[in-house]
Amino acid sequence: MHELLKKRHSGRSFDPKKRVLRAQVEALIEAARWAPSSYNDQPWRYIICDKVDDPEGYKKIFDALVEANQEWVQNVPLLIAVIADSRLRKNGKPNRHGQHDTGAATMSICLEASDLDLMTHQMAGFDKDKIQTSFNIPEQFTPMSIMAVGYEINEPPPADRKRLPIEENFFKGDWGVGYK
Ligand SMILES: Cc1cc2nc3c(=O)[nH]c(=O)nc-3n(C[C@H](O)[C@H](O)[C@H](O)COP(=O)(O)O)c2cc1C
Repeated sequence: MHELLKKRHSGRSFDPKKRVLRAQVEALIEAARWAPSSYNDQPWRYIICDKVDDPEGYKKIFDALVEANQEWVQNVPLLIAVIADSRLRKNGKPNRHGQHDTGAATMSICLEASDLDLMTHQMAGFDKDKIQTSFNIPEQFTPMSIMAVGYEINEPPPADRKRLPIEENFFKGDWGVGYK
């Protein structure tokens, strides 16, 4: 496996003293911009809130998180709301791949961040309606996740990181035939 993929992990210890630089944010944006998408529609939207530069936006995102996430997010210097368009730009018809493509672009951000020695941690534990309302996001867009970005304080990845056996998710030649 590539080193970048090995390095990426979702830790919870962020260094409160180290900010994410503007040039780094721009690199994360470029990484997402160049992700593949159905019809090249680029259905992702990202609201990027720096704790110091965008305190109001940062607070809106922070306030939408569930308490269990708020506890460890306090030291995170950059929060990103990840949002997917449910409609195609070209004709307004439903885009069945909007969420899929947004996930792909978001993974690109995670990997670019790893390359910059930043850590990302996505969260589904947030109130979607709060994000929708506080940022006045139109109905056709769906908040998918909140992403924390920053520097990890020197802690090893949690010991409980594990994965399902290969044959449970990967099939060879036919449905349900575990890859061996
Ligand atoms: C869409 C999504 C939502 C997640 N939601 C949360 C969350 O609300 N809180 C949390 O602490 N971790 C959350 N995680 C992190 C996962 O628990 C983590 O990615 C998983 O355990 C695998 O660990 P790894 O990312 O270190 O490989 C989420 C991850 C993703 C991709």
